[in-house]
Amino acid sequence: MNNPFQEELVARSSAEPCSVVIFGATGDLTHRKLIPALYNLEIDGELPPGVKIIGFARREKSDEVFREGLEELNKDVSRSGHDPEVWADFEKEVYYHQSEFQDVDGYKRLAERLDEIDRERGGKGNRLFYIASAPEFFDDILLNLKEAGLNQASEGFWSRVIVEKPFGTDLPSAQHLNKVVSGTFEEKDTYRIDHYLGKETAQNIMVLRFANAIFEPLWNKQSIEQIQITCAEPLGMEGGRGGYYDKSGALRDMVQNHLLQLLSLVAMEPPTDLSADGVRDEKVKVIRSLRQWNTPELVAENVVRAQYTAGHINGKQVVGYREEDRVNPESQTESYVSLRCFVDTWRWSGVPFYVRMGKRLPKKATEISIHFKETPSVLFNALPGGVPGGNVLVLRIQPDEGISLRMNSKLPGTSLRMEPVKMDFRYATSFGKSSPEAYERLLLDAMAGDATLFARRDEVEEAWKFIDQIEKAWHQSSDPPAMAEYVAGSWGPVESDEMLATEENLWRRL
Ligand code: BG6
Repeated sequence: MNNPFQEELVARSSAEPCSVVIFGATGDLTHRKLIPALYNLEIDGELPPGVKIIGFARREKSDEVFREGLEELNKDVSRSGHDPEVWADFEKEVYYHQSEFQDVDGYKRLAERLDEIDRERGGKGNRLFYIASAPEFFDDILLNLKEAGLNQASEGFWSRVIVEKPFGTDLPSAQHLNKVVSGTFEEKDTYRIDHYLGKETAQNIMVLRFANAIFEPLWNKQSIEQIQITCAEPLGMEGGRGGYYDKSGALRDMVQNHLLQLLSLVAMEPPTDLSADGVRDEKVKVIRSLRQWNTPELVAENVVRAQYTAGHINGKQVVGYREEDRVNPESQTESYVSLRCFVDTWRWSGVPFYVRMGKRLPKKATEISIHFKETPSVLFNALPGGVPGGNVLVLRIQPDEGISLRMNSKLPGTSLRMEPVKMDFRYATSFGKSSPEAYERLLLDAMAGDATLFARRDEVEEAWKFIDQIEKAWHQSSDPPAMAEYVAGSWGPVESDEMLATEENLWRRL
């Protein structure tokens, strides 16, 4: 039976025309992700008419020079290629606004410019501020937006803010940033971005779990042995990234946000409805239920940190982490981390969730694997080879997005022997079109006022609470757990395999 409330929710979320102001407009994120996302929305006919894009940054440049720079990169990175005609139309609504982030006058001039663009180019008075600058400017930008009155929309319009990651570097800094944000914008107008939530397959986790009758009855400790979440990247510290990364590390860069978000989507209870708060209420409960690793001993037992040493990636020689550009040669920052987590709820009591993230691993792959318990070994255990293992459901987040289910099957022939087989669903072949980039979906959602795929204040803070205790054991205890090593191009340190071996488990081979 149709639920009229759900219909109303679907009907509500259409993107509205607005001026998108991007702070940090000359940065990598703007060039590689945000502009290509807006351009692809235009190509797909999804960008609402009347969207204006205003780049805000410190360097002096004209609208024309700004547009040319964006076009050059768009040619290389746009998901659906680059069509000069579409671009020519698109760039007519792209502008550049020069100002220091600390200079309140620059924001007052911005306010005037936005009004002028509205008057002369048919803008609609809605404002979407995207803070994509370096994090040290987040406070200044928010405070100056308020000072210039840009946080308040005129009657009948809205003013919203998207805040990029990192959302703080620990709990106190995240709380501070939350205080500044909430002193400027209401929570309903605040969109803390976690681009993993915009990935098609991450969104599909809820659909798979709650729109199919066969999974949910098995989605608990009775049937599931363990769950693994892996995010592997061959990338190292290219493009000067070492400066940022060495202050962050794998745990803060990826686990606090992306991987804990994936974990909460897998482990959450069914929400009461699909509203942003309905979903986020359930996700935050998962983070709150994580067993705390709050002593150096618990951290040593349940968390492995490591750095890569020199090795080979795709046949190319690469240096070790400590030799990377802008990385401290005595760095104590991890380029790899793996954790054993427990979600202490009735549903998940005792089920290990293994989470790992590493730079300079052999390939780019993010996936979640659900390992089901084996059947009682009473029927087939006498056969040669026995039963080849339990069922494994794999959710491939990227690349090659899809879902596969490993099952045991009889090998054709006169004797009874078994082999695992795979049922595979691939987005690309089943739907015949490529998935939109995460930023496309998230920008549209923010224009539509739908915060479901953005992190709420309490989620961010709860995740930091969990992470901070591990960081404390590593960096502030008198006897910190050791830093392991792995060769670049390998699947991580042996200590990580040993952590799983204590429960007779193995990392899934990707
Ligand atoms: C970012 C991290 O948030 O996500 C990077 O800061 C990481 O270190 C990137 O490489 C991975 O994103 P994706 O979408 O390529 O998996």
